[in-house]
Amino acid sequence: MENIINKAKLNNNLNKNEIVSLLTNNEINNYLFSNADEVRKKFVGDEVHLRALIEASNICKQNCLYCGLRRDNKLQERYKLSSEKIIDLAKNAKDLGYKTIVLQSGESNVYSLDEMLYIITNINKLDLALTLSIGEKTKEEYQEYKKAGANRYLLRIETTDKILYEKMNPEMSFENRLKCLQILKELNYEVGTGCLVGLPEQSIESLAEDILFFKSIDADMIGIGPFIPHENTPLKDIKDKENKNFELALKVMAITRLLLPDINIPATTAMETLNPNGRLIALQSGANVIMPNVTDNEYKKLYELYPGKICLNDNASKCRHCITNKIESINRKVSKSFGYRKKINF
Ligand code: 5AD
Ligand code: SF4
Ligand code: FES
Repeated sequence: MENIINKAKLNNNLNKNEIVSLLTNNEINNYLFSNADEVRKKFVGDEVHLRALIEASNICKQNCLYCGLRRDNKLQERYKLSSEKIIDLAKNAKDLGYKTIVLQSGESNVYSLDEMLYIITNINKLDLALTLSIGEKTKEEYQEYKKAGANRYLLRIETTDKILYEKMNPEMSFENRLKCLQILKELNYEVGTGCLVGLPEQSIESLAEDILFFKSIDADMIGIGPFIPHENTPLKDIKDKENKNFELALKVMAITRLLLPDINIPATTAMETLNPNGRLIALQSGANVIMPNVTDNEYKKLYELYPGKICLNDNASKCRHCITNKIESINRKVSKSFGYRKKINF
């Protein structure tokens, strides 16, 4: 088993069977995590890139079974931040030393194209890198956002198991998801994708396929999050009995680092929700990015993808200091650069 890890470290490649055996054997976990940490250090160094997350609107037209923001969750109070408010939050983030904004929202048309372009242009003027995470759009829209100054785009594939995908995301098409990712690549965005770990009926084999998919599309960023059931969704009773999702998500992340050594990998907020030390553990198992939330607390609490969200009572300045201290406590440092992927040609 250790040989598989040694080999992956050398060639940055594994086949499906090898990934499945790593995911099913828990005796090698520490060896896997420490090797992913070494690969991280060798290829992307000790700097941690911070990305300031703005949750612009929780209005969503989709109905993903796992998500608290799904359209049919009528118990969720909805909001939409104004363009000026978003630009203000970006300015505050810049003042706190952030170099990148991640603008996220549910999938909807509550921001017109012109409104989006206005927001993008103004964030661009602040000399901040901008990542969008606003769902499936048309090629023309992706093109316009890019022209206005958006640099990166996050769109998780969620799962590469097409049948599971379409069960979890009724009304959505797996092919269209793939097509969006392909368009984003063609438009020269830095492209982020990723998956959920612990969905009902999700097999280990399909998680292995997810990792191979990340490699096949040469993703620039990969976010992996444990699934956390939300009370007001159809998946409320899917309990993670033995608390396996955290560790399994960490393993999927560590193997992703072995196979894609030079990419950006966040220590996801959902990991911290399941483990009070989750982000630091992830940073020591292959991750090199953290995305602190800079949205006002009154809105943060309404952006409830899953329950138990962290930092609901902490403001942006508190989180900035807290996270810096945590990063320094493990002998890493906060990066002062934009943190683009520095692609290595093998
Ligand atoms: N648990 C964990 N992550 C979730 N997401 C949505 N719902 C949940 C949940 N219940 C993730 C999806 C989406 C991202 C914005 O949030 O992967 O891409
Ligand atoms: Fe909407 Fe995204 Fe939640 Fe799906 S995961 S319901 S698209 S916010
Ligand atoms: Fe928000 Fe620690 S990151 S309080």
